Formats: sequence, C-alpha cells, structure tokens
Amino acid sequence: MRVVLLGTAAGGGFPQWNCACALCAAARDGKLPSRTQECVAVTGNARDWWLLNASPDIRTQLTATPALWPGPGARDTPVRGVLLTDAEPDHVTGLAALRGAPGLKVYAPRPVLAALSPARAVLDRYAPWEWSDSLAEDGFVLAGGLVVTAHPMGTRPPTYLPPRPADDRWVTAYRIEDLATGGALVYAPCVAAWSDTLDELLTTADCAVLDGTFFTADEAGTAARAGTGTGRPGMGHVPVAGPRGSLTALARHPGVRRIYTHLNNTNPLLDAGSAARAQVNEVGVEVLMDGAEFTV
Ligand code: MLT
Ligand code: MN
Ligand code: ZN
Repeated sequence: MRVVLLGTAAGGGFPQWNCACALCAAARDGKLPSRTQECVAVTGNARDWWLLNASPDIRTQLTATPALWPGPGARDTPVRGVLLTDAEPDHVTGLAALRGAPGLKVYAPRPVLAALSPARAVLDRYAPWEWSDSLAEDGFVLAGGLVVTAHPMGTRPPTYLPPRPADDRWVTAYRIEDLATGGALVYAPCVAAWSDTLDELLTTADCAVLDGTFFTADEAGTAARAGTGTGRPGMGHVPVAGPRGSLTALARHPGVRRIYTHLNNTNPLLDAGSAARAQVNEVGVEVLMDGAEFTV
C-alpha cells in the first residue's frame, strides 16, 4: 500500500491566518516549513486512490501530488472516494471542492453522515455520491485491494451542532490492510484519550499515523484564545507528552512505524530543532512533511 501525507497540520493550518505566535511568525518568515490541513491518500494498486478525510486544502494538495492528477480521459480521476474519521470542518469541508465528480464513495460513521445531511443533499445535486456507514459490520473493501475497519475513538461532536447525547461514533480511527501484501495502516488523527482499542490496533499494524495535535495539555488554552480551528475547551486530543500522553503509549510499540500528524500551530514539534522533537525522535516516532510518501 502506498501512503501519501497530503497535509499534516490541525484545523487552521500552519501558519494559521489569525495567529501571530512565534511559531506561526517563523513559518511566515520561511524559517519553519508551512503545512496544510491534515489529509492522507492511500492506494493498494497505484490506480485507485482513497482520501482519508477531505481537508479545506484538498485542491492544493491534489494539485501538488502527481499520482492524484486526472487522466487519461479528460474527466477521469484516480480518486475513488473519501473515508471520514469525524465531522470536524477541517476534515469534511474539502468535499465541496470534489463536487461533481461522478460516483465518489464516502464512508463515515452514522452520526457524521447525519451531521452532513444538508451538505450531502447539496453535493448529490452536482453528481450523486454513494454514502456508507464506515462502522458497518465486518468492515468494507475498497477498489485496489484494501480492506478497512473503523473503530470508535471519541465522543465529541463538532461545535457547529447543538449539544446532543454522547455517542462514541463521532470520532473514529481506520485500520486499512492491503489484501495482497498484508501490510496494515492505522489512521487515527483525532484521539481523545489513549485506549486499549488503540493498543490492540497497533499490535496488528505495520504503520500508524496518529494524533499529534498538542505536545502538552496546556497548549489547548493558547490555541482556544487564538480563535480559529483546533483547541477549544474539551479539546478532544490526547497530548503527546506527559504520563498519560500518547508518546508513553507509543513507546510500547517499537515494531510499528509511528508518525504524528494533525499538528496544531502551537505545537513545538513543528520545529525540527526543538527539545520536543528530540524527545519524540528518541522514542522512534516520526514527524514528516506534507507530501511525504511511503509504503506500508
Ligand atoms: C479538532 O480537531 O479539534 C477540530 O478540528 C477543532 C475545530 O476545528 O474546531
Ligand atoms: Mn481537527
Ligand atoms: Zn500560531
């Protein structure tokens, strides 16, 4: 399976338009690499590609990635569909840019499909798409020979909806296995808290692309004050550092290739020279650039 990290920043991107923090300023000055909002592309056969989430930056990301360019016919595209982990704006608004592509398949958990209902009605008028429950029993098979299962990861609904009863299907992770090679990827860009489910998933995976939104829990307050995107109260993202952070948990899985993504603009991991980055490197967990491509 080929995997391309199309974007690696949390909601708002890096730099964030309305943030003048030292990190965002360094990105504007070209001292740190800018990053687009989190999105991944995968394929089992190099012909049929699947997007994992649809970021607001999807047009730029598709344009920057030759494997995803259209052809050979004037309106052919290798993009077959989108697997949504949640209904957050930074993961779903890219669907609008894909409107009119006939027959795209979109997988999402039921509450996310329901939240998107008005948007689905709009999109389906450009070209009808196939919308399916990602948590359907036994998972689903994607063109190109990938078999997928979804796994509940968090209960936080998106801010644009009125409060509603708790449901653990608002945020999910995917396990994607290449039927031909057996290579398996776990994709979990939004992890509210580390769980046994994640430990179990990692024992069956070769590679994991994981929530690295915040390095420390107190970064969330800074982000909330910055006023866009990720980081309002009840942030829904396990921090990297600390005794209950994801890095301690990831240290238990040295045989798995582990990559942090969905980095918030407050996160010191954005700076390759930071002490935070050294700490993560020490455990063997990676932070890659937008456009990074690898095989699982
Ligand atoms: C998140 O990942 O926490 C969300 O994208 C936050 C948001 O954009 O409101
Ligand atoms: Mn987000
Ligand atoms: Zn900033």
